[in-house]
Amino acid sequence: MNRLFISVEGIDGAGKSSHIDAMAAALRAAGHVVCVTREPGGTPLAEQLRQMVLHTPMDALTESLLIFAARRDHISRVIQPALARGDVVLCDRFTDATFAYQGGGHGFDLDVLGTLERWVQTQQGQDGQAGGALMQPALTLWFDLPAQVAAQRLCGARVPDKFEAQPQAFFEKVIAGYARRAALEPQRFARIHADQTPEAVRAEVLAALRNRGLLSA
Ligand code: TMP
Repeated sequence: MNRLFISVEGIDGAGKSSHIDAMAAALRAAGHVVCVTREPGGTPLAEQLRQMVLHTPMDALTESLLIFAARRDHISRVIQPALARGDVVLCDRFTDATFAYQGGGHGFDLDVLGTLERWVQTQQGQDGQAGGALMQPALTLWFDLPAQVAAQRLCGARVPDKFEAQPQAFFEKVIAGYARRAALEPQRFARIHADQTPEAVRAEVLAALRNRGLLSA
Protein backbone atom coordinates (compact mmCIF):
# COMPACT_ATOMS: atom_id res chain seq x y z
CA MET A 1 0.00 0.00 0.00
CA ASN A 2 1.44 3.35 -1.04
CA ARG A 3 0.80 6.17 1.42
CA LEU A 4 0.62 8.68 -1.45
CA PHE A 5 -2.35 6.96 -3.10
CA ILE A 6 -5.61 8.70 -2.09
CA SER A 7 -9.11 7.96 -3.37
CA VAL A 8 -12.26 10.03 -2.98
CA GLU A 9 -15.65 8.33 -2.83
CA GLY A 10 -19.33 8.99 -2.26
CA ILE A 11 -22.72 8.81 -3.95
CA ASP A 12 -23.57 11.11 -6.85
CA GLY A 13 -24.37 14.55 -5.43
CA ALA A 14 -22.17 14.09 -2.33
CA GLY A 15 -20.04 17.04 -3.47
CA LYS A 16 -16.65 15.32 -3.64
CA SER A 17 -15.64 16.75 -7.02
CA SER A 18 -15.75 20.37 -5.86
CA HIS A 19 -13.29 19.52 -3.05
CA ILE A 20 -10.76 17.62 -5.16
CA ASP A 21 -9.26 20.76 -6.71
CA ALA A 22 -8.88 22.33 -3.26
CA MET A 23 -7.20 19.17 -1.96
CA ALA A 24 -4.80 19.14 -4.89
CA ALA A 25 -3.98 22.83 -4.33
CA ALA A 26 -3.29 22.25 -0.62
CA LEU A 27 -1.07 19.25 -1.36
CA ARG A 28 0.85 21.19 -4.05
CA ALA A 29 1.33 24.10 -1.66
CA ALA A 30 2.84 21.58 0.78
CA GLY A 31 5.41 20.62 -1.86
CA HIS A 32 3.86 17.49 -3.40
CA VAL A 33 3.56 16.81 -7.09
CA VAL A 34 -0.08 15.76 -7.50
CA CYS A 35 -1.66 13.61 -10.19
CA VAL A 36 -5.43 14.21 -10.21
CA THR A 37 -7.27 11.45 -12.02
CA ARG A 38 -10.60 9.62 -12.02
CA GLU A 39 -12.41 6.34 -12.52
CA PRO A 40 -13.78 5.03 -14.66
CA GLY A 41 -11.32 6.92 -16.82
CA GLY A 42 -7.89 8.49 -16.57
CA THR A 43 -6.48 7.09 -19.85
CA PRO A 44 -7.78 7.37 -23.45
CA LEU A 45 -8.97 3.74 -23.40
CA ALA A 46 -10.51 4.01 -19.93
CA GLU A 47 -12.32 7.23 -20.91
CA GLN A 48 -13.86 5.39 -23.88
CA LEU A 49 -14.97 2.60 -21.56
CA ARG A 50 -16.38 5.25 -19.19
CA GLN A 51 -18.68 6.55 -21.93
CA MET A 52 -20.03 3.03 -22.51
CA VAL A 53 -20.50 2.33 -18.81
CA LEU A 54 -22.25 5.64 -18.11
CA HIS A 55 -24.55 5.72 -21.12
CA THR A 56 -25.22 2.19 -22.41
CA PRO A 57 -27.60 -0.23 -20.68
CA MET A 58 -25.83 -3.50 -19.74
CA ASP A 59 -25.97 -6.12 -17.02
CA ALA A 60 -23.94 -5.81 -13.83
CA LEU A 61 -21.30 -8.39 -14.84
CA THR A 62 -20.63 -6.63 -18.16
CA GLU A 63 -20.49 -3.31 -16.32
CA SER A 64 -18.04 -4.70 -13.75
CA LEU A 65 -15.80 -6.24 -16.42
CA LEU A 66 -15.62 -2.95 -18.34
CA ILE A 67 -14.91 -0.98 -15.16
CA PHE A 68 -12.13 -3.35 -14.13
CA ALA A 69 -10.71 -3.32 -17.67
CA ALA A 70 -10.60 0.48 -17.48
CA ARG A 71 -9.01 0.21 -14.02
CA ARG A 72 -6.31 -2.17 -15.27
CA ASP A 73 -5.29 0.29 -17.99
CA HIS A 74 -5.46 3.21 -15.57
CA ILE A 75 -3.30 1.50 -12.93
CA SER A 76 -0.60 0.39 -15.32
CA ARG A 77 -0.40 3.58 -17.41
CA VAL A 78 -1.09 6.32 -14.85
CA ILE A 79 -1.30 5.29 -11.19
CA GLN A 80 1.74 3.03 -10.87
CA PRO A 81 4.07 5.32 -12.87
CA ALA A 82 2.96 8.36 -10.83
CA LEU A 83 3.51 6.57 -7.51
CA ALA A 84 6.88 5.30 -8.74
CA ARG A 85 7.88 8.94 -9.38
CA GLY A 86 6.87 9.83 -5.82
CA ASP A 87 3.78 11.84 -6.84
CA VAL A 88 0.58 11.96 -4.82
CA VAL A 89 -2.23 10.27 -6.75
CA LEU A 90 -5.63 11.81 -6.03
CA CYS A 91 -8.19 9.53 -7.63
CA ASP A 92 -11.85 10.51 -7.96
CA ARG A 93 -13.32 7.05 -7.21
CA PHE A 94 -11.60 3.66 -7.23
CA THR A 95 -12.61 0.07 -6.44
CA ASP A 96 -14.79 0.93 -3.44
CA ALA A 97 -17.17 2.50 -5.99
CA THR A 98 -17.48 -0.84 -7.77
CA PHE A 99 -18.31 -2.61 -4.50
CA ALA A 100 -20.77 0.18 -3.64
CA TYR A 101 -22.49 0.68 -7.03
CA GLN A 102 -22.28 -2.72 -8.73
CA GLY A 103 -22.16 -4.73 -5.48
CA GLY A 104 -24.46 -2.61 -3.29
CA GLY A 105 -26.63 -0.73 -5.79
CA HIS A 106 -27.12 -3.55 -8.31
CA GLY A 107 -26.70 -6.39 -5.80
CA PHE A 108 -23.96 -8.01 -7.89
CA ASP A 109 -21.92 -10.90 -6.43
CA LEU A 110 -19.26 -9.52 -4.07
CA ASP A 111 -17.12 -12.65 -4.43
CA VAL A 112 -16.85 -12.10 -8.19
CA LEU A 113 -15.92 -8.47 -7.55
CA GLY A 114 -13.31 -9.65 -5.04
CA THR A 115 -11.83 -12.00 -7.64
CA LEU A 116 -11.69 -9.21 -10.24
CA GLU A 117 -10.15 -6.90 -7.65
CA ARG A 118 -7.35 -9.39 -6.95
CA TRP A 119 -6.77 -10.01 -10.65
CA VAL A 120 -6.55 -6.37 -11.57
CA GLN A 121 -4.88 -4.95 -8.48
CA THR A 122 -2.11 -7.40 -7.80
CA GLN A 123 1.17 -7.46 -9.64
CA GLN A 124 1.17 -10.23 -12.20
CA GLY A 125 4.32 -12.30 -12.49
CA GLN A 126 5.85 -13.27 -15.83
CA ASP A 127 3.85 -16.50 -15.72
CA GLY A 128 0.64 -14.41 -15.64
CA GLN A 129 -0.16 -15.53 -12.08
CA ALA A 130 -1.51 -12.85 -9.79
CA GLY A 131 0.52 -12.48 -6.62
CA GLY A 132 1.84 -9.92 -4.20
CA ALA A 133 0.13 -7.10 -2.37
CA LEU A 134 -3.24 -5.69 -3.37
CA MET A 135 -2.93 -2.24 -4.92
CA GLN A 136 -5.20 -0.08 -2.75
CA PRO A 137 -5.31 3.56 -1.70
CA ALA A 138 -3.74 4.24 1.68
CA LEU A 139 -6.46 6.78 2.39
CA THR A 140 -10.04 6.86 1.16
CA LEU A 141 -12.06 9.99 1.82
CA TRP A 142 -15.69 8.89 1.90
CA PHE A 143 -18.08 11.80 1.42
CA ASP A 144 -21.05 10.45 3.32
CA LEU A 145 -24.37 12.15 2.65
CA PRO A 146 -27.98 10.91 3.06
CA ALA A 147 -29.41 9.82 -0.30
CA GLN A 148 -32.33 12.21 0.11
CA VAL A 149 -30.05 15.24 0.47
CA ALA A 150 -27.97 14.15 -2.52
CA ALA A 151 -31.15 13.78 -4.61
CA GLN A 152 -32.18 17.34 -3.73
CA ARG A 153 -28.74 18.64 -4.66
CA LEU A 154 -28.74 16.82 -8.00
CA CYS A 155 -32.31 17.75 -8.89
CA GLY A 156 -32.25 19.56 -12.25
CA ALA A 157 -28.49 20.15 -12.08
CA ARG A 158 -27.77 18.62 -15.51
CA VAL A 159 -28.89 15.82 -17.81
CA PRO A 160 -28.36 12.74 -15.61
CA ASP A 161 -26.26 9.78 -16.75
CA LYS A 162 -27.36 6.17 -16.20
CA PHE A 163 -26.39 6.17 -12.51
CA GLU A 164 -27.54 9.68 -11.62
CA ALA A 165 -30.97 8.78 -13.02
CA GLN A 166 -31.37 5.93 -10.49
CA PRO A 167 -34.03 6.26 -7.76
CA GLN A 168 -33.18 7.18 -4.18
CA ALA A 169 -33.54 3.53 -3.09
CA PHE A 170 -30.59 2.63 -5.34
CA PHE A 171 -28.40 5.21 -3.60
CA GLU A 172 -29.45 3.92 -0.16
CA LYS A 173 -27.99 0.57 -1.25
CA VAL A 174 -24.85 2.26 -2.62
CA ILE A 175 -24.34 3.97 0.76
CA ALA A 176 -24.76 0.59 2.49
CA GLY A 177 -22.12 -0.78 0.10
CA TYR A 178 -19.68 1.96 1.07
CA ALA A 179 -20.43 1.40 4.75
CA ARG A 180 -19.60 -2.31 4.36
CA ARG A 181 -16.25 -1.50 2.75
CA ALA A 182 -15.47 1.09 5.44
CA ALA A 183 -16.28 -1.41 8.20
CA LEU A 184 -13.88 -3.94 6.66
CA GLU A 185 -10.98 -1.46 6.50
CA PRO A 186 -11.65 1.31 9.05
CA GLN A 187 -7.99 2.38 9.09
CA ARG A 188 -8.12 3.20 5.37
CA PHE A 189 -11.36 5.19 5.42
CA ALA A 190 -11.85 8.77 6.62
CA ARG A 191 -15.59 9.46 6.72
CA ILE A 192 -16.35 13.03 5.72
CA HIS A 193 -19.68 14.37 6.95
CA ALA A 194 -20.74 15.89 3.63
CA ASP A 195 -24.03 17.30 4.92
CA GLN A 196 -22.39 20.50 6.18
CA THR A 197 -21.32 23.86 4.77
CA PRO A 198 -18.54 23.68 2.14
CA GLU A 199 -16.16 25.32 4.66
CA ALA A 200 -16.86 22.68 7.33
CA VAL A 201 -16.45 19.87 4.78
CA ARG A 202 -13.17 21.37 3.59
CA ALA A 203 -11.91 21.54 7.18
CA GLU A 204 -12.64 17.82 7.67
CA VAL A 205 -10.93 16.96 4.39
CA LEU A 206 -7.78 18.92 5.26
CA ALA A 207 -7.74 17.39 8.77
CA ALA A 208 -7.81 13.91 7.22
CA LEU A 209 -4.82 14.80 5.03
CA ARG A 210 -2.96 16.22 8.05
CA ASN A 211 -3.68 13.08 10.09
CA ARG A 212 -1.88 11.04 7.42
CA GLY A 213 1.11 13.35 7.43
CA LEU A 214 0.35 14.59 3.92
CA LEU A 215 -0.05 18.19 5.11
CA SER A 216 1.79 19.77 8.00
CA ALA A 217 -0.23 20.58 11.12
P1 TMP B 1 -18.42 10.42 -11.39
O1 TMP B 1 -19.63 11.08 -11.99
O2 TMP B 1 -18.24 10.67 -9.95
O3 TMP B 1 -17.19 10.63 -12.21
O4 TMP B 1 -18.70 8.84 -11.46
C1 TMP B 1 -19.17 8.23 -12.59
C2 TMP B 1 -20.29 7.27 -12.29
O5 TMP B 1 -19.82 5.94 -12.41
C3 TMP B 1 -20.90 7.42 -10.91
O6 TMP B 1 -22.33 7.46 -11.04
C4 TMP B 1 -20.53 6.14 -10.22
C5 TMP B 1 -20.28 5.15 -11.34
N1 TMP B 1 -19.26 4.15 -11.02
C6 TMP B 1 -19.65 2.84 -10.84
O7 TMP B 1 -20.84 2.51 -10.95
N2 TMP B 1 -18.69 1.91 -10.53
C7 TMP B 1 -17.37 2.22 -10.40
O8 TMP B 1 -16.54 1.35 -10.11
C8 TMP B 1 -16.98 3.60 -10.59
C9 TMP B 1 -15.55 3.97 -10.47
C10 TMP B 1 -17.95 4.52 -10.90
